[in-house]
Amino acid sequence: MAKSEKSWEKRLSGEPDPLTVNFVESLSHDTRLYKYDIAGSIAHARMLGDQKFITRDEFKEIKDGLLEISEEISCGRFKFDKTYEDIHMAIEAALVAKIGDTAKKLHTGRSRNDQVATDIRLWMRDEIELLQAGITGLQKAFVKLAANYSDDVMPSYTHLQRAQPIVIGMYLLSFVEQFERDFLRLGNCSKLLNISPLGCGAIAGSTLALDRKSTASQLGFSDICYNSIDATSDRDFCAEFIFDCALIGAHLSRLSEDWILFSSNEFGFVKISDSFCTSSSMMPQKRNPDVLELIRGKTGSVYGSLMAMLTILKGQPSGYNRDLQEDKVHVFSACDSVKACVEIARAIVGNTKFNIKKIAAGLDKGFLDATGLAEYLVVRGVAFREAHGIVGALVADCEGQDKSLAELSLDDFKRHCDKIEQDVYEHLGASNLVGKYVTEGAAGPRQAKEQVAYWMSELAKR
Ligand code: ARG
Repeated sequence: MAKSEKSWEKRLSGEPDPLTVNFVESLSHDTRLYKYDIAGSIAHARMLGDQKFITRDEFKEIKDGLLEISEEISCGRFKFDKTYEDIHMAIEAALVAKIGDTAKKLHTGRSRNDQVATDIRLWMRDEIELLQAGITGLQKAFVKLAANYSDDVMPSYTHLQRAQPIVIGMYLLSFVEQFERDFLRLGNCSKLLNISPLGCGAIAGSTLALDRKSTASQLGFSDICYNSIDATSDRDFCAEFIFDCALIGAHLSRLSEDWILFSSNEFGFVKISDSFCTSSSMMPQKRNPDVLELIRGKTGSVYGSLMAMLTILKGQPSGYNRDLQEDKVHVFSACDSVKACVEIARAIVGNTKFNIKKIAAGLDKGFLDATGLAEYLVVRGVAFREAHGIVGALVADCEGQDKSLAELSLDDFKRHCDKIEQDVYEHLGASNLVGKYVTEGAAGPRQAKEQVAYWMSELAKR
C-alpha cells in the first residue's frame, strides 16, 4: 500500500523511503499472530458496541469482515504487502478495503501498542499449552521405557568417571523430573502473562469509557493489567518464556549428550533406532546420531534468543519503543525450535533400547561398589572417614592385582579391617548393591518401581 492509501495518516509528508518500508516491516514474521489479532479486534469491537461508540450493525459489519479476512489468510488467499508494516495494519487496511468507512471506527481507543501486547499474550498462552502437551508426551515415553528397565543396572557417572550403580529406570526417570519442572515453569509463565493489556492504548489509556474487563473476559484473560504504562511496554513474559524454552533445551541437550556418548562403540549402552540416525556421505559404516546432535545445537540457538530478548529490553526507556517489535523474532524462533526438539525427542525415547548384556558385562569395572562397602563398614561401627580410607586402600590393592572388590578373599579384606565378615559379598557387585539402597529417591529397583507407578498415574491425569 502506498503512503497515500493509508488514508488516516496525514502527519508525514510524502512517501516513506523504500529502505524504511523494508526496514520497519514485521509482516514477514508476525503474520502468525493473525488469529489472535482478529480475536482481539472482534472483542474490542463488541465492547465498542456495548459502550455505544459504534452501533450494533457496525459491530456486526466489522465482525463479519474480520472473519472473512481470517478465512482468506488461513486458506492462503490473502495478499500480504510489506508496506502495511505489520499484521495489525494489514488486517485493518483489508477491513477498510472490504467494508469501507465503518472499519475506520475499529481502532477507537486502541493503539498497536496494546494490540500487539494482547496478541503475543494470546499466542503465547496457546503455545504454552501445546508445549506442555509435548512435554507430557515426552515424559510418558520416558516412564514407559523406565518400566522396561526398573531392575537393570548401569553405572552412574560423576565427572564422567564411574560412580555408583543405579538402575536404568531411575536414570530415565531423572529426565521426567526435569521435564516436570519445565512443565510447571511454563504453567507459571502462562498464569503471569494471562492478564489483558487491551484498552491501555498507546501508553496512557483513554478518555473514552472503554470496558476493559469486558474485552479481557471475552478473550479468556483472568484479569486486566492495572497500569497502562507497564502494560504496553512489558515483555517480561517473553524473556521468561524463552528462558523456559532454554531450560527445556538444556535438559534435552544433556539427554542428547548422554545418548550420543552411550551409543558410541566405546560405551555401547544404547541403540537409537535407525530412523533417527543418518549415515555418512563418505564412510559407509557410519550410523550417526545427528538428530541428537541437532537438538544439542538448536539449544545453542535458543540460548541466543534469550540473550537477544534480554538485551533488547535492557536499554529502553519506559513506554513502548519500536525495539520491542524484535521480541517476536526471538520468541517465535525459540518456541519453534524447542517444540520441534521435544517432538522428536519423544519419538527417539520411544524407540531406544538399552544393551543390557553389554552394560552388565562391564559392571565389575570401576569399583561401583566401593561406596557401598564403606557404608557396610559404617554399619559395623567404623567411622565413615576411616571406612573411606580402608576402602580406598582396598581399591588400590585391587588395581594392583587387576581384580574387582568382589574378587578379594576374606583374608584380603581382614588384612585391612577385621570388622569385615563373610556377609560382605552380599554387598559387593553392582547388582547386589542397588537392592540395598534404602533411602527414598535412591536409584534402586524398589524406588524405580514406586516412581514408575507414581508417574504413570500422575501423567494419566493430563
Ligand atoms: N509491529 C509492531 C510491534 O510488533 C506494532 C507496534 C507498533 N507501534 C508503534 N507505535 N509504531 O511492536
